[in-house]
Amino acid sequence: MTAGPPQKSDGQIDVAFTPADVRTSDVALVVDVLRAGTTIVAALAAGFERVLCAGDIETARHLSGAGRKLAGERECRPIEGFDYGNSPGEFTHAPVPDLVLCTTNGTPAVLAAAEVAGEVLVASLVNLDAVVDVVPEGAEVAIVCSGTNRRFALEDAYLAGRLVQRLGQGRTDAATAAARLADSYPDSHAPLAQGADAEVLRATGQSADIDFCARESVFDIVPRVSKTGDGIAVVEAGDFESTTGSAAKDRENAMDREQTSA
Ligand code: MLT
Repeated sequence: MTAGPPQKSDGQIDVAFTPADVRTSDVALVVDVLRAGTTIVAALAAGFERVLCAGDIETARHLSGAGRKLAGERECRPIEGFDYGNSPGEFTHAPVPDLVLCTTNGTPAVLAAAEVAGEVLVASLVNLDAVVDVVPEGAEVAIVCSGTNRRFALEDAYLAGRLVQRLGQGRTDAATAAARLADSYPDSHAPLAQGADAEVLRATGQSADIDFCARESVFDIVPRVSKTGDGIAVVEAGDFESTTGSAAKDRENAMDREQTSA
């Protein structure tokens, strides 16, 4: 028998609409569509080797040093003295190996998920296909929405619903609600543009970020928490070479089997 990722035959998919609702799971998919989740994907795609997610500004500042750049936001605006804000489009190349990222909701959500899940991945619309491909069939999955200031965020719930639809396994009531919400939108731009976060981005002249974050499956990167400690979670591009595509294939086969036996 070969060792593989944790699997459970009765795996259910759950959605925590805010990090306070998170439960233990085999796999947590952390969602902050606008914008931290998308920024993490973009930074790794640009060539940063690691994104060090910090829970607060002080921790981030302590991590500054050679080989590192600081990024983050408060109220969607860059933090004084930091090298970057939280616009995913800022990350076109990586001048150093490490990006230290501190955001209001997204990076604390990564830390919260890492406390209770066996495996933590970061999901966004820009890497939707790549994430779905690596979630093992039958795993207990918790989709953890970062929300906004501890409240429900429309764009995160929308992506949660899209993930639920694609993962197609037993669902909690919250997962069913998210899938129904996603169903009610014809495309991904509207739910991103209608929420409170989008309003702040428009008010601060950053509406281009909404377009950036609404693109689907343009990066083949699955950010994965590789280490935690001292108030940070280290996120790297997961190496899923051996499993990429096979989890999705297993799921399709399982759905075919169900249809055949029905
Ligand atoms: C957050 O983590 O709260 C966000 O990503 C906010 C933003 O910069 O859009």
